[in-house]
Amino acid sequence: MCLTFALCALNFALYNVPMSRAFYRTYRPSSFEDLLGQEPIQKTLREAARQDKLAHAYLFAGPRGTGKTTTARLIAKIANCETRAKDTKFKEKGEPCNHCQFCKDIDDGRSMDVIEIDAASNRGIDEMRNLKETIRVVPTSASHRVFIIDEAHQLTKDAWNALLKSLEEPPEYVIIILATTESDKVPATILSRAQQFYFKQASLAVIGKKLSHIIKEESISIDSEALELIAATAEGSFRDAESLLDQLASFTAGKITLENVESMVGKVGFDKIWKFSATVLKNDLPSALSSLSSLYETGTNIVQFTKDLIQHIRRIAVLHYNPEMKTVFANEVMNDHLEKLEEQSKYFTDKHIELLKALIEAHGQMKYSKFPIIPLEVAIIESLKSNTNII
Ligand SMILES: Nc1ncnc2c1ncn2[C@@H]1O[C@H](COP(=O)(O)OP(=O)(O)O)[C@@H](O)[C@H]1O
Ligand SMILES: [Mg+2]
Ligand SMILES: [Zn+2]
Repeated sequence: MCLTFALCALNFALYNVPMSRAFYRTYRPSSFEDLLGQEPIQKTLREAARQDKLAHAYLFAGPRGTGKTTTARLIAKIANCETRAKDTKFKEKGEPCNHCQFCKDIDDGRSMDVIEIDAASNRGIDEMRNLKETIRVVPTSASHRVFIIDEAHQLTKDAWNALLKSLEEPPEYVIIILATTESDKVPATILSRAQQFYFKQASLAVIGKKLSHIIKEESISIDSEALELIAATAEGSFRDAESLLDQLASFTAGKITLENVESMVGKVGFDKIWKFSATVLKNDLPSALSSLSSLYETGTNIVQFTKDLIQHIRRIAVLHYNPEMKTVFANEVMNDHLEKLEEQSKYFTDKHIELLKALIEAHGQMKYSKFPIIPLEVAIIESLKSNTNII
């Protein structure tokens, strides 16, 4: 009785401890519908799925964290999903069912017929020879064997040659997917045998949408300013944004403030940059110098700050000379911030071009300086003292 109770308790403990799985794994899109920001790719592959016209070789190129591995797994599921094979109505959707054993095994990384190879650590000819052998082996239970070769640009010349042989005459049941961040390093002979898809960097707006979904699911409290800073820091990578949110959520027990994000990433939010640029655009040298000093003292990474300031003033300048560029910037900043940028662009004058140039030059010097704040101060003093009566 006692032992049974102890075992039960152990069982209970094992199954009820909340297992923390990384956000980027929990929220990996399980269907094309959830793949964000890659519409042309999504559309083409869904159509191919509807018509059962998958290719034998694919090349997925593009920046990190944009959906290459995710899409490769979606193709593996499409190729092997049992529900699709049986039910033509389901096939019409151009999606995997995500419920059959094949789909589940692929999602859990347990399928014997979906083989993921990291070319960064398996670069050589031997591995590719092994691949050639493995390709000849018929699938154990699924209908297709799918090889996903990640970081493919790292393969050696001999490895490419070995792979080429397999690509020339792939058996009916084989699909080879190459994923790379550097497609220019993939030999032309390989490229010409694969269907190529180029993944785009995700815009801030789309990353924001995905993060908003996660914070809702996970009941995380965070304000929009902090969320925007996370999305901006990720520079187009969903994975980076999700990992950062993950880290911040556990570090703050689910209540994330802008200050938390700022101190973790060493970057300041939009409002601080906006306020600072207002002082320089209005030619208020004393305020500019004191704000700079307090930013420095509170531990802001001043080189990063200068980079963000340059980007901010550049947007203002562009909006000043071409207000239509608003539609482009709508992908890069949040809506209410876009309005603030527009407002500030009214204060921009031709003379501020010199300020922009001085900031760019200062940024170049700061990176190598032991006193990074000085080139920035000098640039601001020089530009502002000669810019009297701008406003
Ligand atoms: N297009 C996308 N839409 C939604 N989430 C994405 C997208 N791309 C990547 N992600 C998120 O980032 C994680 C890593 O994506 P992955 O496909 O492995 O990127 P990579 O392009 O580096 O192979 C995914 O698990 C998912 O959470
Ligand atoms: Mg990948
Ligand atoms: Zn299925």
